[in-house]
This record gives sequence, C-alpha cells and structure tokens, in this order.
Amino acid sequence: MNQNSDNKKRDLFSSKDKKTIVVGVTGSIAAYKAAELVSQLRQRNYNVFVIMSADAKNFITPLTLQTLSCNPVLENFLEEEPGSPCGHIALADRADILLIAPATASTLARLAYGFSDDPLCAVALATHAPLLIAPAMNVKMWEHAATRDNVERLRARGAVFIGPGWGMLACGYEGPGRLIESSIIVDHVEKILLEKK
Ligand SMILES: Cc1cc2nc3c(=O)[nH]c(=O)nc-3n(C[C@H](O)[C@H](O)[C@H](O)COP(=O)(O)O)c2cc1C
Repeated sequence: MNQNSDNKKRDLFSSKDKKTIVVGVTGSIAAYKAAELVSQLRQRNYNVFVIMSADAKNFITPLTLQTLSCNPVLENFLEEEPGSPCGHIALADRADILLIAPATASTLARLAYGFSDDPLCAVALATHAPLLIAPAMNVKMWEHAATRDNVERLRARGAVFIGPGWGMLACGYEGPGRLIESSIIVDHVEKILLEKK
C-alpha cells in the first residue's frame, strides 16, 4: 500500500461557512486542558479564537493555544485582530458561541456583575452569542455562597453551565470542582449550535 497517497492536508485557514467558537481560558490549574479542548474543536472544523486572562498565562502559553487554534490569541485590549480596529468587539460580533473553559471563581464573579475590565469579560458583555461556562475550582470555592450566587445570577441571564465534574482535585480535596472532559464540552457546543438553527 502506498502510504503517501493518503497524506491529505486539511485547509486549516479557510473560514467560510464555519461556525466560530470563542474560547475564554482563565487562571485555573485546569487551564492546560484548554489545549485538548481547542484541538478537538478544530478537529470538528470550527473556527476557534482564544481569549486568555492574564492569570491563564501562568498555566498555559498563548503560543500553544495560538498554534492549536490557528488564530491569534487575544490577551489584552491593545492587541487587535488583523484588519479590525477594535479586536474584542470584532470577536464578540463574530462569535456563534462564547465558551469559557476553565472558568475560575474570580471570572464567574466578574461576569455575574458585568465587569468589562479584561478582554474576556468585555466580550461576554458585548456579544449576543450563547454563553457556555465550564467551571473548575476547589470544592469549597464552588460551594461557597458567593459562587452559588454568581452562578445563579448568570443562569438567570441565560448562561449554560456544564460541570464541574466530581472527583479528586489538584488541591487534594475530593468533590465537585473538576473541569468537565473536553469531548463532553465539545458535544455540548454542537448541541447548542443545533438548537440555535
Ligand atoms: C496553582 C493555582 C491554581 C489555581 N487554580 C484555580 C482554579 O482551579 N479555580 C479558580 O477559581 N482559581 C484558581 N486559582 C486562583 C486564580 O488563579 C485567581 O483567582 C486568579 O485571580 C483568577 O483570575 P482570572 O479569573 O482572571 O483568570 C489558582 C491559583 C493558583 C496559584
């Protein structure tokens, strides 16, 4: 069998007709899993743009997510998408879904109260796309009344939560707090897009 004859290369850059998933990555120990998530979204042929919080960069590099998404990563307000004078608004307009994975307790609080002091929260305020949130944190942070309140505020405004999963956490506790598996998140993205049709 001639192995070379099957070496097809997918066109990674043609964006016509593809749905755009904007993925927010925040400063959780689970941020490294965003690499697998972004890769799986690309394999399902979505256009993927990543926005990283400043603290997310302590856990995973923009270069990794830029390479896997095949798009520039938005890290601060001064960066602009090529050809756009206002990168975060362009992303907000372009998003078919805003997915935040992993979402920290801190980001949930800022989203719940409508802060726009970082690019991710600003995009969340400026977009009409559905918001899908996959939290990851210590079990006590997840169960704290402040977090419960923030989650309910966001749910009441239409945000959809997926997870957290139950299990052994990096901090040594066992309970809810794990980022849900990438394949389950991607299935949920597809479900929301189908419902939107
Ligand atoms: C090693 C380490 C792991 C952390 N993991 C989490 C986490 O899983 N979830 C969380 O809510 N915060 C976690 N934090 C705290 C956040 O990084 C901190 O609240 C940060 O300000 C979040 O900012 P951001 O939401 O803008 O990314 C962690 C901090 C450290 C040092």
